[in-house]
Amino acid sequence: MEEKRENWGSKFGFIMAAAGSAVGLGNIWRFPYLAGTNGGSAFIIIYLGCVFTIGLSIMTAEFAVGRKSGLSAVGAYMSVSKNWTFAGVLGVLSGFLIMGFYPVVGGWATAYMFKSVTGLLKDASAVGDAFGAFISNPVQPLIWMGLYMVLNIIIVARGISSGIELASKVLMPALYVMLFIIIVRSVTLPGAGAGLAFLFKPDFSMVTGKTFLAALGQAFFSLSLGMGCMITYGSYLKKDQNLPNNAAIVVSMDTSVALLAGIAIFPAVFAFGLDPGAGPGLVFVSVPLVFAHMGAVGPILSFIFFTALMVAALTSSVSLLEVVVAYLIDQRKMKRVNAVIITSVIMIIMCVFASLSLGVMADKPIPILGVGAFDLFDILTDKIFLAIGGLLLAVFIGFVMKKEDLKKELTNEGTIKFGAFELWYNFTKFVAPVLIAIIAISGIISMKDKVALMLFGVGIIVVSALFSKKFK
Ligand code: PHE
Repeated sequence: MEEKRENWGSKFGFIMAAAGSAVGLGNIWRFPYLAGTNGGSAFIIIYLGCVFTIGLSIMTAEFAVGRKSGLSAVGAYMSVSKNWTFAGVLGVLSGFLIMGFYPVVGGWATAYMFKSVTGLLKDASAVGDAFGAFISNPVQPLIWMGLYMVLNIIIVARGISSGIELASKVLMPALYVMLFIIIVRSVTLPGAGAGLAFLFKPDFSMVTGKTFLAALGQAFFSLSLGMGCMITYGSYLKKDQNLPNNAAIVVSMDTSVALLAGIAIFPAVFAFGLDPGAGPGLVFVSVPLVFAHMGAVGPILSFIFFTALMVAALTSSVSLLEVVVAYLIDQRKMKRVNAVIITSVIMIIMCVFASLSLGVMADKPIPILGVGAFDLFDILTDKIFLAIGGLLLAVFIGFVMKKEDLKKELTNEGTIKFGAFELWYNFTKFVAPVLIAIIAISGIISMKDKVALMLFGVGIIVVSALFSKKFK
């Protein structure tokens, strides 16, 4: 028997779930280190520009496409044009690829919750080495990742309203509370002002083309755009919801958490004279170091910080899993539980490779490509697939869907106002694709082994295009 398609229980629940998807490692782990390595405030200003132009318009577009069709990524594209099925398939593939490394970092965050209170912070000089030793250990990270995945799987298996929505309604407000606690401590440290100045005093001397691209790429990743995630979440929305409004709220929440994470981290980093440009290790090395210098409250604050990180990651990886699960339910008519089991098995295999690629398999990169599984999944999605997915969506909106249909969807059949419709439509149709093309191309160009990775990306696109023929 076919299961009845679910809906979000309430507007609040949907917003928490969509913001939960957007707010994740991208905000608390990636945003601060990108800001730190790209000159702070100037990067942030450019990032905000990207988020509130391209990000907001693509988010609105994804909600519209999802709710109009009432189907997840593949079905949504297919219901408008069979020729576009591949764009949905590409989204599902991106979901798989992100799922192949995201839970690894989620597992680290889980481990650090416990390490925070079990002696990690006792010896500040050992914090950096401890991280390196931990992530390259063949067994330890896998155990933590397993624990993190179990939570993930349970939430998605419980379905939309009593799984994802319920978890997000509890976890998202908790995340804000935890961040505020850390901020209060951080900004009251002597010397914290330098960190705030780093974040908010514009200094454009560090800006180059690279800054701009880093900001655009980060906007896509952080808002969960370009892979059908917000199409899928939009498909569970009731017809009376105001889509442009919801998109604006979700985008603002995502941005606020990124900024709050910056305000939590940088004042403390500056107060203790650490390097703001420490890179990807910022959250797992510099932040614990900060806590190690705080005396008795250190372990407690550190526990709170990593719990916040884990919670943020969890509501995002739940959405990644849901993109694939929803596809199997909608298109393959599977039962939710079976879809979750199949997807999880593949996810676990990919993650094991991703985790081992940072340790015992570090000296055995993938032939020709020259990178490990973790980096491959990360680069392919962040640098290529999300941008291509966003570009395809913008073109699809502008040149395939009917303008009239979009207007009806975004104004709930004319019952609510969307004053900026023309602006949104023309921006999405003409400006966004060009800007996104710039990100995608320079993303590919800036990669380590350009030719090999490019071929790999093109190969996957071709495979997915062929694969999609099956649905015709
Ligand atoms: N937006 C999430 C983050 O910031 C990552 C993500 C990307 C989740 C794409 C779902 C889809 O961490």
